[in-house]
Amino acid sequence: MQTVTLPRPDDWHVHLRDGAILKAVLPYTARAFGRAIIMPNLRPPVTTAAMVAEYRSAIMEVLPEGMSFTPLMTLYLTDATDPDDLKKGFTEGIVTAAKLYPANATTNSELGVTKIKNIASVLETMQQIGMPLLVHGEVTDPYVDIFDREAVFIDKILTPLRKDFPDLRIVFEHITTSEAVDYITAEGLDGKLAATITPHHLHINRNALFQGGIRPHYYCLPVAKREKHRLALVKAATSGEKMFFLGTDTAPHTRQAKESVCGCAGIFSAPSALELYLQIFDEAKCLEKFEAFASRNGPDFYRLPANEEWVVYEKTSKEFNEIKPILTENGEILSFMASAPITWRLVNT
Ligand code: NCD
Ligand code: ZN
Repeated sequence: MQTVTLPRPDDWHVHLRDGAILKAVLPYTARAFGRAIIMPNLRPPVTTAAMVAEYRSAIMEVLPEGMSFTPLMTLYLTDATDPDDLKKGFTEGIVTAAKLYPANATTNSELGVTKIKNIASVLETMQQIGMPLLVHGEVTDPYVDIFDREAVFIDKILTPLRKDFPDLRIVFEHITTSEAVDYITAEGLDGKLAATITPHHLHINRNALFQGGIRPHYYCLPVAKREKHRLALVKAATSGEKMFFLGTDTAPHTRQAKESVCGCAGIFSAPSALELYLQIFDEAKCLEKFEAFASRNGPDFYRLPANEEWVVYEKTSKEFNEIKPILTENGEILSFMASAPITWRLVNT
């Protein structure tokens, strides 16, 4: 039997939401991952260190007995973020990183940053204290084609931002294009720039959205791109290079909210994310690089040790694994590739 043994992985990009959805989805992330970077785009967003602390407590309160999991919290930047509050949150160990959503780029980003210059003093502080900036890398100009918004972001926003704040440590979240892969590969050697890659962007290209009709459950932001971009992402993830690491961007929405005249962006992958990544590494014949991607590169970037606990995944002969809809008070949530043949599974030790 083929097995992969590695330090318990972490997920460096997760949406847990709050209330009934938080309670329903948290066990799926905590089952596979030791720690996770928790996104702050709640309604209302998590914009102060005090709100971050409160959100952290809400998560810990619903963590099932016997599960060990550490949420690493983020603060949602707005035009009005107070650099002193952010600094205090970081130095006290409450806030791990700050998230930059360009206003209106994605789900619950209406209160995001309208112009980088509005947060110049915040970025200056973050650069000084070594606090990571996590970016949703898409421009919001409606005249820019939706499939080009990431590549344009690199030229118009990220490159000038890095010129102005050369020591700022940045994670380009959920990259989807060969342009982003090339940029990170070239610029990330100094350890100040890295990127997360999701399981869905490794598995699907944009055709999935229109397979025989419109498929809202494959819609997320940044939207999936052409096949050549998917292949570039697979190559980057399976390279084991330190600037690429695991971040699922698991983003639960109820079925009702997805299957609508204006369905929301977000793919929920938590129940099988780790297994779906393993499948990609297996198919690429790069399983030996999985430990770097899933368990080492992320902690290294965030200046944390890898998890001490080790876990084992094994390849089974089972070829069908139906993940049932998750029932919550707010409605049911469907999983990404819920009927896909999944051949990897966590061995309970
Ligand atoms: C995320 C969500 O639903 O909160 N949606 C998504 O499509 N990825 C927000 C985000 O990360 O862009
Ligand atoms: Zn996200």
